[in-house]
Amino acid sequence: MKYTEKELNAFGLASESIPRHVAIIMDGNGRWAKARGQMRSAGHRAGVDALRDIIRFSSDSGVEALTVYAFSTENKKRPPEEIGVLCGLLIEYFKKEIDELDENRVRIKSIGDLSWFPENVQAAVLNAEARTAENEGLKLNIALNYGSQAEIVRAVKYAAAVARKENREPEKEDFEAGLYTAGLPPVDLLIRTSGEERISNFLLYQLAYAELYFTDVYWPDFTKEEYIKALTAFAKRSRRFGGLTAK
Ligand code: IPE
Ligand code: IPE
Ligand code: MG
Repeated sequence: MKYTEKELNAFGLASESIPRHVAIIMDGNGRWAKARGQMRSAGHRAGVDALRDIIRFSSDSGVEALTVYAFSTENKKRPPEEIGVLCGLLIEYFKKEIDELDENRVRIKSIGDLSWFPENVQAAVLNAEARTAENEGLKLNIALNYGSQAEIVRAVKYAAAVARKENREPEKEDFEAGLYTAGLPPVDLLIRTSGEERISNFLLYQLAYAELYFTDVYWPDFTKEEYIKALTAFAKRSRRFGGLTAK
């Protein structure tokens, strides 16, 4: 259900300042768990719960695309037990959430190299993508075994191949068509939780003019209220894109 302008105003927001594309580095699950004397797996589980509300609010407030970092190419360095937990959670996530996501017309797409994951994870993701492919609501991209450098290399190869076929030089558009985010607007707002202030190989090209928002809150504690704070901060930024006029 989409919020009316009045409802958005009640949150201190307005439709004209809602970002079209939000990207989130969902960080701090492990530290959240540690602070409670729990296993890291409990943190990842709590992280899934946090994501549910953020997808909901994105969809209801009129965000067009939401890209979330769930597993990076570098995360493959983690112990096999933790990777196993994350794979299990992914399967469970798609099984449990797919009905509600589909009802809300969310279109799910994974970005990254899915082929590395076990068959059952791939099947769960592909099923969710197929089932929601025609949906016209929020475009939800879930980054899985995603790394921006690998994505850029892939897009360069794509652009070169397309251009070679047509006997011409590769152009910016060819390159952009080879990115996982082809067809989406560039990222307007990047959020990273847990106090880390780095990009960690996420959407390096797409973030060119994004506003960056860092918060100390660990991902499992990133509630709708925290999201509204980020969106409010975004609305106050003066985006000049190299020019002189504000907004
Ligand atoms: C983010 O939380 C989730 C993944 C990278 C899968 P972390 O697992 O990185 O949590 P911290 O950074 O160790 O607290
Ligand atoms: C980035 O978090 C990747 C995800 C949130 C999936 P990390 O916890 O892996 O990042 P670094 O290693 O601290 O930079
Ligand atoms: Mg981390």
